[in-house]
Amino acid sequence: MTPSAASPGRVGAPISWDALRGAAGEAAARAYAPYSGLQVGAAGVCEDGQVVTGCNVENASFGLTLCAECGLVSALVAGGHSHLVALSVLAGDGRALPPCGRCRQILMEHAGPELLLDAGEGRAPQRLGDLLPGAFDSSELAKVAARKSVARRRAVPAGTVRSSARGRR
Ligand code: THU
Repeated sequence: MTPSAASPGRVGAPISWDALRGAAGEAAARAYAPYSGLQVGAAGVCEDGQVVTGCNVENASFGLTLCAECGLVSALVAGGHSHLVALSVLAGDGRALPPCGRCRQILMEHAGPELLLDAGEGRAPQRLGDLLPGAFDSSELAKVAARKSVARRRAVPAGTVRSSARGRR
């Protein structure tokens, strides 16, 4: 979905939860959820002040269903926006929904632990880091790469030409 010009999140401005809820409600109304009947809309404000939205898109082969947050993250990346600061996920009836586990992990990559999640009117927003403590992130992959390069350096002493390389000369 396209970013909205009616941004409730100008850079540095306080988060307008009402505006985010309005955008999430509009997205929920467009959701494609004929199987579960649970329409979900997500609206988030990015660091650059833009608002991105998404809705769930179900599929007859249930496992292929796309969550509203996935659509939102896709719009975020495709639109070239910076990471998310605040997010509201609402059901079609307007109640705030907690993102599923998979979406928490996806959101972590594009927002980080300080992302504020709407917990519903009159309730304090929650930090993503509190909903997904000890998250797996790219630092684990960097450790593998570092270990591999150390192992490679140990296996091949400097100046050594591998026999396979010699054979190719
Ligand atoms: N759903 C979302 O869109 N986001 C979530 O975080 C949880 C679940 C959708 C997927 C499916 O279409 C419906 O809610 C019922 O699981």
